[in-house]
Amino acid sequence: MRIDIVTIFPEYLDPLRGALLGRAIERGLLNLDVHDLRRWTYDVHKGVDDSPYGGGPGMVMKPQVWGEALDEVCAGEPPRLVVPTPAGRPFTQAMAHEYATESRLVFACGRYEGIDQRVIDDASTRMRVDEVSIGDYVLVGGEVAVMVMVEAVARLLPGVLGNPLSAEQDSFSDGLLEGPSYTRPEVWRDRAVPEVLRSGNHKAIDRWRRDQAIERTFARRPDLLAALPPESLDKHDRAL
Ligand code: ADE
Repeated sequence: MRIDIVTIFPEYLDPLRGALLGRAIERGLLNLDVHDLRRWTYDVHKGVDDSPYGGGPGMVMKPQVWGEALDEVCAGEPPRLVVPTPAGRPFTQAMAHEYATESRLVFACGRYEGIDQRVIDDASTRMRVDEVSIGDYVLVGGEVAVMVMVEAVARLLPGVLGNPLSAEQDSFSDGLLEGPSYTRPEVWRDRAVPEVLRSGNHKAIDRWRRDQAIERTFARRPDLLAALPPESLDKHDRAL
């Protein structure tokens, strides 16, 4: 997969080249390019923003600069363009899976009060464009949101995770939060690992894990439990 990111703070995205994603890049599983938006500015001040029509606080990013940048970065086979904004549709694990099947993603990081809407409307005539929010809070700009989304997508690419079962057993993959995990030692500060996990009885372990996932989801995210199709819960689940 190829990912391009356009931003006025390219160095902000440097951490994406470390750890797991850095290895994916080295191994050629992910091709990541970060572009400085100021490359496409056309005045001596390298201006990227201006005051909003209609008045109000903050600044809006200029359409001419973004238009030129996206024309160049999105040239060739049209990519899927993702624009992070608190006014977007919520980003979910299902979207991460969908993005992981794309051959090309372009992320356009806005700052200030956002990007002139005509940039998004114009790009939408040539490619799929998603305005996406990573949660109900407001960040200073789209860079951190892009890091979140790129990490969520990249770990789903074939070969990126050492053990592909890790992605399959994620929280959300079956609509439930994952339950607790334990490792050695068996007893730590007088706290023992639950007996069943040491029993070697895999059927009992699976059942215990499912019970824990349901109880945790009920306590922390009842909205997720309510959204599950009723047939995905068995008799034992419903009795909890
Ligand atoms: N930019 C600012 N806040 C954001 C959010 N919550 N999600 C995506 N992009 C943003």
